[in-house]
Amino acid sequence: MNQLGRTFSTSSLFVYAVIAGVVVLFFVPGVSRASGEQEGKKLVENLCSTCHKFHGESDSRFNIKAPDLMWGGSKFQRPWLLDWLTGKVPMLYQKSYRWDLSQEPETHITVSQKEAEAIADYFEKNLQDSRVKHNAIDMSTFSQQEAKFGEEIFTQHSCIGCHQIMVDGKKVGGPQSASFFDSGRRLKADWIYRFNSNPPDFVPHSGEFVGDVSELGLRYVTGFIATRGVEDFPYYEPWKSVEFDHPNVENGARIYKEYCAQCHGAEGKGDGPAASGLEPKPAVHANIPFEKIPLDYLYNVIYYGGKGVGKSPLMPYWGLTIGGKQGVADVIAYLKATFKGEPESASTASPSGTSSGVCPQPRNTKQAPGKFRHMPNPLPTSQENIKAGEKLYHETAQPLACIQCHGEKGDGKGPMGAALNPHPRNFTCGETMKDISDGQMFWIIKNGSSGTGMMAFAGMPDNQIWQLIQYIRTLAQ
Ligand code: HEC
Ligand code: HEC
Ligand code: HEC
Ligand code: HEC
Repeated sequence: MNQLGRTFSTSSLFVYAVIAGVVVLFFVPGVSRASGEQEGKKLVENLCSTCHKFHGESDSRFNIKAPDLMWGGSKFQRPWLLDWLTGKVPMLYQKSYRWDLSQEPETHITVSQKEAEAIADYFEKNLQDSRVKHNAIDMSTFSQQEAKFGEEIFTQHSCIGCHQIMVDGKKVGGPQSASFFDSGRRLKADWIYRFNSNPPDFVPHSGEFVGDVSELGLRYVTGFIATRGVEDFPYYEPWKSVEFDHPNVENGARIYKEYCAQCHGAEGKGDGPAASGLEPKPAVHANIPFEKIPLDYLYNVIYYGGKGVGKSPLMPYWGLTIGGKQGVADVIAYLKATFKGEPESASTASPSGTSSGVCPQPRNTKQAPGKFRHMPNPLPTSQENIKAGEKLYHETAQPLACIQCHGEKGDGKGPMGAALNPHPRNFTCGETMKDISDGQMFWIIKNGSSGTGMMAFAGMPDNQIWQLIQYIRTLAQ
């Protein structure tokens, strides 16, 4: 018994040793990739090339059964490719790949994890496309604001007509071509960039569309596609860059004199030569305590202009004119050093002649169309909804929290309140607020009040707007 046991354990030890030896050999990287790639080549030839093309020129969609994979190594991110080949991710073409409907949508062939690794090795080694340049798009400097512009292009240039994306947890768009729910996990950014530069290079006669966007627009829409489905994408925050560590206030003063004073006035009183013809009026910088205004907002409104943050396009986008990030950092340093704003006293100097927070408050806001004006709040009144609205109002609303203009108490005396003519609505004034319906507020929050400083919160989900309205109703006295 004893003897037998010992013999048994000795021989199994030996077996382990042999396995360990093989394993060690296998994991020497070069060896592993090379043999994986060989195996991958066989798998591709035997299992995949009946449907996919791995060599030669791309052809009309009506002559092929499946997407071309000649550039597979440049196109796919490895973790996604492994998931795809092992059947862990949903199909991309919901109505089947052939939109002449000569094909039924069906599930894709799957292979084992090990085979998938071998195929991925083969892709990486053999299916590189020399047209795709490494770092063609620098995603390390891609900001949330740029993604927002990318989404606008995606919508306005019809991309959404054929490619679906997720908006507020809902699938939106025409399910004709590849869905982009998680295109940021599937596709390599440099490949998307090259594809978007001239789609017919990849998919001739396929139904794909050539959009008319600028070089910058190409970056925005590419980055937008390259971040879909990436929950924790580390968006770049330019206001945290080195340029902001060493701003040059004197250069900021020069910029202000040469560019900003035309509208905002030499002393920031909103009375520059252009101001008389503008609606809304340029903000009265002298009334803004710039130290208190969130830096991300100041950066975006100056670099990308009023339109970038849901405000008037009469406030130009300065990024390209005043020296990019450094110029913006410098002029912000100048604004902070120069304008301290004392809303209470300064407000009498405001061109409207009235101060913030009066009640009843003069109100010339456009009426919402009837369809909106009579719309009731669809959410049941509840403490949770009011709490959610309160958080948006005070902290999280993007691009700028309501408190910055409408004030802590809702009286319209936020740090930016006195800079605007007309002044922000005084939500504490029951007499004025009682005539404003929930639907009217909804419409103004969504679209802004044109010709005034009230910006559009176009990207805010509807239910959040209704939560805000429930909170605003609690402020009236
Ligand atoms: C019977 C035909 C068929 C075979 C065999 C087949 N595929 Fe596919 N493959 C398709 C179709 C059709 C699609 C598009 C499916 C969809 O998402 O709706 C596709 C999609 C893909 C995609 C994603 C393409 C893209 O543009 O995003 C990859 C990668 C892929 N296949 C790799 C492979 C590999 C590797 C093999 C072999 C192991 C293989 N396929 C075998 C038909 C096939
Ligand atoms: C009229 C329909 C249509 C419109 C509009 C459209 N596309 Fe496409 N798109 C396609 C088709 C078809 C393909 C080719 C898919 C294939 O056969 O591999 C494609 C492929 C793509 C791909 C490659 C996706 C992949 O997984 O292979 C990208 C990226 C893309 N389009 C971006 C855009 C952008 C950006 C816009 C807007 C400027 C746009 N598309 C507008 C139909 C459309
Ligand atoms: C052509 C006229 C014009 C010029 C030049 C101009 N602005 Fe403006 N600016 C405006 C207008 C109009 C608004 C109000 C926009 C609104 O409320 O929708 C504004 C608003 C602002 C705001 C406040 C944003 C807010 O939320 O109310 C800041 C900050 C600002 N401008 C900074 C600058 C800086 C810095 C410069 C110079 C680099 C500059 N502006 C040059 C017209 C101009
Ligand atoms: C940059 C300053 C600014 C910010 C930020 C701002 N508002 Fe306003 N808001 C105004 C101004 C100015 C008015 C007055 C517009 C007018 O007279 O038509 C206004 C008016 C309103 C009105 C009154 C509409 C009506 O019909 O009378 C509502 C409701 C409103 N804002 C809600 C909000 C909410 C909610 C937020 C935050 C998500 C917000 N505002 C953020 C400046 C701002």
